[in-house]
Amino acid sequence: MIIIVDFGSQSTHLISRRLREISVPSKLVEPETFFEQTAGETIDGIILSGGPQSVYDDASPRIDAKVFELGKPVLGICYGLQYLAHNLGGKVEPGKHKEMGPATLTILQQSPLFLLDTPDGSEEYITAKSAVWMSHGDQVTSLPEGFTHIGKTETTDLAAFANEARRIYGVQFHPELVHTQFGMQILKNFARMCGFDATDRVIDREFVEQIVADIKDSIGGKKVISALSGGVDSSIATLLVHEAVGDNLTAVYIDSGLMREGETETLERVFAENYKMTINVVHAKDEFLAALKGVTDPEEKRKAIGRTFIKVLDREAQALGAEFLVQGTIWPDVIESAGSKHSSIIKSHHNVGGLPKDMKLILVEPIRNYYKDEVRAIGGVLGLPREITHRKPFPGPGLAVRIVGEVTQEKIDIVRKADSIVQQEIEAYDGKDALWQIFAVLTGVKSTGVGGDYRSYGECIAIRAVESTDAMSAHWARIPYDILGKISTRITNEIQAVNRVVYDITDKPPGTIEWE
Ligand code: XMP
Repeated sequence: MIIIVDFGSQSTHLISRRLREISVPSKLVEPETFFEQTAGETIDGIILSGGPQSVYDDASPRIDAKVFELGKPVLGICYGLQYLAHNLGGKVEPGKHKEMGPATLTILQQSPLFLLDTPDGSEEYITAKSAVWMSHGDQVTSLPEGFTHIGKTETTDLAAFANEARRIYGVQFHPELVHTQFGMQILKNFARMCGFDATDRVIDREFVEQIVADIKDSIGGKKVISALSGGVDSSIATLLVHEAVGDNLTAVYIDSGLMREGETETLERVFAENYKMTINVVHAKDEFLAALKGVTDPEEKRKAIGRTFIKVLDREAQALGAEFLVQGTIWPDVIESAGSKHSSIIKSHHNVGGLPKDMKLILVEPIRNYYKDEVRAIGGVLGLPREITHRKPFPGPGLAVRIVGEVTQEKIDIVRKADSIVQQEIEAYDGKDALWQIFAVLTGVKSTGVGGDYRSYGECIAIRAVESTDAMSAHWARIPYDILGKISTRITNEIQAVNRVVYDITDKPPGTIEWE
């Protein structure tokens, strides 16, 4: 397998995902415990991930230098490249500016790292100039001895280097991100140097049956309760468990009062029509509002909601005699909530971060290791219609994370109404399927306006629409002005409390998709 040393980048887990996509086994290890964690494993290659620190800081993460004496191919990415330079005799210095975002890689010298897959197997290389994604502050300023300079970008001269004899490579950009045009090709080439075929993997019936068999093994004949949210993730997780344990599963939908307009009704209909399953709807709006009273901090809000969900679920589970709880946690939720040893927590997704330590239920998270697009593919194999597998995601904590400041019934009503207008008007947009999400946020900012002949002092709604493939990064969507204009007019006309609408033009990073 390929060992991925996790220096703490937010995209480290994407490296293992990319390797999985080409059927290459990998294992993530912490730098300090490389040899303990790889004892007994066959190491075919090593990838050093990116990370938020500076290699020249005393406190930055390190690995045993013996790793470089194993004679296996090594690929350093971002911090990993800097780590190689710093530790093999080169130099790393702070850059003048932080570089975050797209750049153009110019190849200075061909390398097996840059080979292209061709239909007839002829030897061709990726184009001399290609798009890459950068995210770094430091720069390598001199190469270690024996290394060749193979690529540069506009702002980073030493953006790629190689020691072909030792099969050690470094790239400053992130090949694991989709924004890097030939990123997957570079990872395939590296995997091939490590001895793998690196051919594309498919999510098929056999793949799904393996997941179902694993669930069966872990639950046995016990009773299971599923926390349905109506979204793709929890629906598919529930369906997988249903395939595994049948009627031992009871699906429960908690109406927190923080859902979109018509959500509960749609969910009941969709499940009855497509899943042939009935769901227990629990009305718990008042409990959630009480838990949110006076809470303004976003993380506290998420945790208060998480606790309330669990409290209600625990109660339902006891009534049913269930011992297991199904959750539709997916991989980005895990990474962003927990972080690894060297990465920082971005936000607590309630289905991961907010669970109380004394929770009595045992978690079953059948899609925890997958990304959204993989989850959708699993749904497709299960025979779910596209209408369901491609539903737009909606956060577990619901509208609460789209209300800046304290959550009250009045504010929920405003943001729900605004959201409903957004959803109606976006139907007219041809490019709506390409949107990852579009929604309204109650910003908590008040501003002066004029209504008729009178001054008003009202709420401000922000519209957020993004395009993304896995929610790890996103671009703000270029919605036509006419549609935005219609949304704005309707919101200010139909919701009396609102007198201003703004459009959020922030990518992720630096913003997250939700405001809280
Ligand atoms: P962020 O805001 O972190 O969102 O960029 C990434 C994606 O995750 C959704 N999201 C959540 N989903 N529980 C969920 O199941 C949560 O607590 C949660 N918070 C955010 C968000 O809507 C976006 O699609």
